[in-house]
Amino acid sequence: MWEDIEKILLREEDILPRLDTLARQINTEYDGKELLLVALLNGSLIFLADLLRRISLPVSFECLRVSSYSGTTSTGTLQFQDLELPAVNKRHVLLIDDILETGVTLDTVRKQFEKKSDASSVRTCVLLKKRIPLAPQAEADYFAFEIENEFVVGYGLDYNERYRNLPFIATLNQEAISRWKP
Ligand code: IMP
Ligand code: MG
Repeated sequence: MWEDIEKILLREEDILPRLDTLARQINTEYDGKELLLVALLNGSLIFLADLLRRISLPVSFECLRVSSYSGTTSTGTLQFQDLELPAVNKRHVLLIDDILETGVTLDTVRKQFEKKSDASSVRTCVLLKKRIPLAPQAEADYFAFEIENEFVVGYGLDYNERYRNLPFIATLNQEAISRWKP
């Protein structure tokens, strides 16, 4: 797996201190409110686990399985694998995703919660935000890092379900991209 890595962008020692800061911001802004984190699976699993343990407010979380990506590009449409949204019970929803690119994912899920749940508020939080040429369809209310417009894996992010277990965020070399093409 290591020979597939082109360039390491962020290591755990870069990510975790930034999550301390991000969690402090969330702790302050949601103080006194009932917070529900909703993690979009599979990509946000590791980010969720690390962020959750830094939130000092009473908090619960739910997971929602969605997908829009095939290989290294977005298909532009979002598929919900779960038939129903989790019960919100008037809590403040914070959607957690691994990365914001076109914004289709977060925009679609946010609208579902706004339309079909009784959430007191719906905001979004991502680990990474990609610098893309066009403005994204949705902005992230919270993000940990901004990266260039390149395909990355690791720390939960995948290439056709591989590389989620890498303890850092990196780009892949061409050989790896060709080897696991869908
Ligand atoms: P968006 O809907 O275009 O904003 O794309 C967001 C979704 O695409 C995320 O939930 C990721 O699962 C996936 N994605 C976008 N960029 C990357 C990447 O560089 N690596 C892995 N997955 C990505
Ligand atoms: Mg994904």
